[in-house]
Amino acid sequence: MDFKTQVAGATGLAGVATDALLVLVVSAATPDSLDGPLADVLNSAVKDGDFTFKAGQGLMARRIAGVKATRVVYAHAGDATHKPLRKAVQTALTLLKGSRIERMSVALVGGPNWTDAQAEALVTAVAEGCYVYRATKPSATEVSQLSTIILICAKGDTAPVATGLRRGEAIAAGVELARECANLPGNHCTPTYLADQARQLGKDHGLKVEVLERKDCEKLGMGAFLGVAQGSEEPLKFIVARYNGAAKTDAPVVLVGKGITFDTGGISIKSAGEMDEMKYDMGGAASVLGTLRAVAQLKAKVNLIGIIPACENMPSGRAVKPGDVLTSMSGQTIEVLNTDAEGRLILCDALTYAERFKPAVTVDIATLTGACVIALGHIRSGLFSADDALAAELLSAGEQSGDLAWRMPLDDEYEEGLKSHFADIANVGSRAGGSITAAMFLKRFATKQRWAHLDIAGTAWKSGAAKGATGRPVPLLTHFVLARAK
Ligand code: BES
Ligand code: MN
Ligand code: ZN
Repeated sequence: MDFKTQVAGATGLAGVATDALLVLVVSAATPDSLDGPLADVLNSAVKDGDFTFKAGQGLMARRIAGVKATRVVYAHAGDATHKPLRKAVQTALTLLKGSRIERMSVALVGGPNWTDAQAEALVTAVAEGCYVYRATKPSATEVSQLSTIILICAKGDTAPVATGLRRGEAIAAGVELARECANLPGNHCTPTYLADQARQLGKDHGLKVEVLERKDCEKLGMGAFLGVAQGSEEPLKFIVARYNGAAKTDAPVVLVGKGITFDTGGISIKSAGEMDEMKYDMGGAASVLGTLRAVAQLKAKVNLIGIIPACENMPSGRAVKPGDVLTSMSGQTIEVLNTDAEGRLILCDALTYAERFKPAVTVDIATLTGACVIALGHIRSGLFSADDALAAELLSAGEQSGDLAWRMPLDDEYEEGLKSHFADIANVGSRAGGSITAAMFLKRFATKQRWAHLDIAGTAWKSGAAKGATGRPVPLLTHFVLARAK
């Protein structure tokens, strides 16, 4: 899909030749800038009760006399911030579903001209709405044939809009990569597949990609990661992808993504209901790949390293058992009281490995706990960090991108439950505050770096009718990294 800008001519919006003209209304009444037949249609719809000036409202009209566009869709975009803009685009795409539309022109009326943030939001919303999973279902039909989107701007206004479009395109591409990877079933998206994806990304975008095998991990003493992987026939992969956009001396941002390509729970096996959704347990890894793609596409002046410990969590005759004690790369011993708390086991070794890069900051991203879904639902990701400044940066990146997070506590007292009689730490505490104790566990392995943790168990995918990966938190992470670029 191609996103462009166009300055409206002397004939105004009515003179724009296009398959569909999307009029995003941000005012509480028909704006003055809308005149002639475009205003008449809206006014009569208001009179008939077919349109009100409220977020989410939409209306389609066809072949309006005196209007060049074949179709006109009006959609109310609230105050034109991220959320209502996304909603307006969803409304418009629903109204246009099935129509043969290749070109869509979009105008923002009744308020100030497009900002770069609004242009970005439009791109990501259109891309989100047009995505169709086809990798293992080629018969799935595309929702639209849209190939060109044109933002109608005021004169002298196109430069910031173009910047927003480029950023939106990069984020959308990153989100799509993350969605594609995560939606793939576990028999397709294996640790080996993730490593291949990283290598391909490296070729396409000039990243240095290194993949450590089991032997390498043994040499490094990654006993926790190895312990989780040992129950599976699928070879583990420890993926390190580096984007160098700044001077060598610039400390890198390190992103660590949980890459469990299927989580059965291991010997502490999960119940059958919805277990298929545990193919999404590599959503953190997918978001790291997606962010690397977005940041590399934008050629941001920053050093970024993605680390992905990837393996399956399976029960077998060789699998780690409850009560087993593993020695992590940090030297700390871990009593595995529940083999289903495997995410923290693979992440703790990855966090220790990250130390060698002397990161400016390290952020891990993981579908870590069901408890986080109970706490925050599917709207905001859980953010954990003892570093107030880093937490503020991540929260702000969430606001900027419309990909929201919420900060959770990390008081020392939450660590109590992780005491073990047989090791330095146990891998689970009591059920209470489960997302926090999981974060407390990770904190024990991140003492030598500025660190934050994002629990995306509730936000990485949707269940039910609209089942599928969301690509979150690629928008948040991309904004976070861009804000740290020179
Ligand atoms: N991948 C799961 C977390 C998860 C569960 C995410 C359901 C989304 C939906 C993780 O590995 C896990 O199994 N966590 C356990 C931890 C428990 C054993 C302390 C959980 O949340 O039940
Ligand atoms: Mn698990
Ligand atoms: Zn898991």
